[in-house]
Amino acid sequence: MSDTTAVQRFYRFHALIYDKTRWMILHQRRAAVQRLALRGDADVLEIGCGTGLNFRYLMEWLDPIRGRLTGLDFSGDMLRVAERRCRSAGWNNVSLVEADATCMSLGRQFDAVLFGYSLTMIPDWRAALRSAAEHLRPGGRLAVLDFGGFEGWGPLGPVMRAWLRANHVETVQPYAEALRELLPDTTVHPWLGGYCFTALARKEM
Ligand SMILES: C[S@@+](CC[C@H](N)C(=O)[O-])C[C@H]1O[C@@H](n2cnc3c(N)ncnc32)[C@H](O)[C@@H]1O
Repeated sequence: MSDTTAVQRFYRFHALIYDKTRWMILHQRRAAVQRLALRGDADVLEIGCGTGLNFRYLMEWLDPIRGRLTGLDFSGDMLRVAERRCRSAGWNNVSLVEADATCMSLGRQFDAVLFGYSLTMIPDWRAALRSAAEHLRPGGRLAVLDFGGFEGWGPLGPVMRAWLRANHVETVQPYAEALRELLPDTTVHPWLGGYCFTALARKEM
């Protein structure tokens, strides 16, 4: 990778404290994975997998031999933590790929794709969504779990949005609408007054 972005620099330090701190702010992981309704033999891609905090929820559905998980991230620092997690859990069906989600080319299509709190950190998120849809097989499912716009938070809404923006997270973009343009069979569920949302899309056969 030729260029080091601000987000990659951000995660050089945050990789060290990510697992100890994010349980406070990143919620609804199991619910988002559940929406994918994975088969045991599914071939799954998580885009922006970070340290692999969603892996245990995906592994609840995947057969350890027939199911496959690919975790993709452009931060080598985050992937090193994910690699340690997989080694200590004995997950031999996980492959980790260091690549940029906006221009990835993995050479195959997946049964399911997950963005877990990663889409809102990608400036060219439309390119990432397009690429994700291209990597999804016909009939496959794509789930996005991410921060919402805090619409029900009254005066705290702008504070939360500004705090997240200072941490490279842009909440005020039409993520679900753009996903629906790409994959019309998309349903969206907001949580906790817009704290976060899940969007589930199914690619036409
Ligand atoms: C908030 S973390 C989420 C990690 C994990 N999915 C989770 O739920 O804990 C966002 C991750 O997205 C990754 N990311 C951001 N932009 C990316 C891009 N363009 N390509 C690949 N990964 C990216 C970051 O490196 C980071 O690991």
